[in-house]
Amino acid sequence: MASRCGASNIKCRDTPAFRAADLEFIAVCRSYLVRALVITGAGVSAESGIPTFRGKDGYWRNLDPIKLATPEAFARDPELVWQWYRERRQRIREAQPNVAHQAIARLAQHADEFLLVTQNVDDLHERAGSAKAEMVQIHGDIFVTRCSRCDVSYAGRGGSPEPPGAHADEPENERLRSIAPTLENNGNLPRCPQCGALMRPGVVWFGEPLPARETERVENYLRRDSCGVVIVAGTTATFGYIIDWALRASCRGGELIEVNPEETALSRFATRLVRESAAIALPRIVDRMMNF
Ligand code: OAD
Repeated sequence: MASRCGASNIKCRDTPAFRAADLEFIAVCRSYLVRALVITGAGVSAESGIPTFRGKDGYWRNLDPIKLATPEAFARDPELVWQWYRERRQRIREAQPNVAHQAIARLAQHADEFLLVTQNVDDLHERAGSAKAEMVQIHGDIFVTRCSRCDVSYAGRGGSPEPPGAHADEPENERLRSIAPTLENNGNLPRCPQCGALMRPGVVWFGEPLPARETERVENYLRRDSCGVVIVAGTTATFGYIIDWALRASCRGGELIEVNPEETALSRFATRLVRESAAIALPRIVDRMMNF
């Protein structure tokens, strides 16, 4: 991916371990609050009881999620893959956003310009109050169901169907949302009401491209200006684009704060390392920014 700053030009910066008492820098961040980028991963939802992907608790019936989240797994055993997604949907419905999600929503309200890029397919950021207009779900939305062949898709948390005529003014594929079967009440494999192909979860699987529209929203935000503060929380930063976006956003002297109990591929680039859980660190960081 083309990078304005180019990751290779960015020197590893001094990364002092972040101590609870060492919060003075937050005062400086406050002056940068004009423009902020937050990138989150599974660790932010971990304290809501949603298992991470790569942690020990991420395994589902001894199956590696990394191997289930592929087009090949779906082609081989769509029932197994749907079973996994149905259970994940159910767990997410029962979960509540935690204080880390809430802190991010609060930060958004105080920044002049704000973008949240989340790799999480759950809806906990939204339920904590983050606005969809300021959020990019770069790996999709688990509550979207889309056709594996044509462009039919429908959203919703699996509740009751929308009222007839709800989409009368919208394009055909929007209208189909209201007549598509509700998966959660239906143990069978869902079929597309238009072309008959298997429906699949609206998430990005390994080996698939990122959704172009969502990538473009991130790129537009980065193109407009750099950020005063970039917070990357709860992700192993496995994918190059996560590191690329964090570096480009902070490349003009912005703080790059990593919140993660573990070292990651991003750690060596961070200006601040916060080796704590997101639910402990983010409310404190955001409070200090707000209340300085
Ligand atoms: P991972 O499961 O790879 O990593 C979770 C990260 O969160 C690890 O770095 C943990 O150290 C950290 N962590 C765990 N608990 C935490 C807590 N309470 N507070 C803060 N951090 C905590 O999840 P992601 O990095 O989000 O993609 O994974 C990225 C992508 O890989 C996922 O979106 C998914 C997966 O394959 C696709 O499905 C395309």
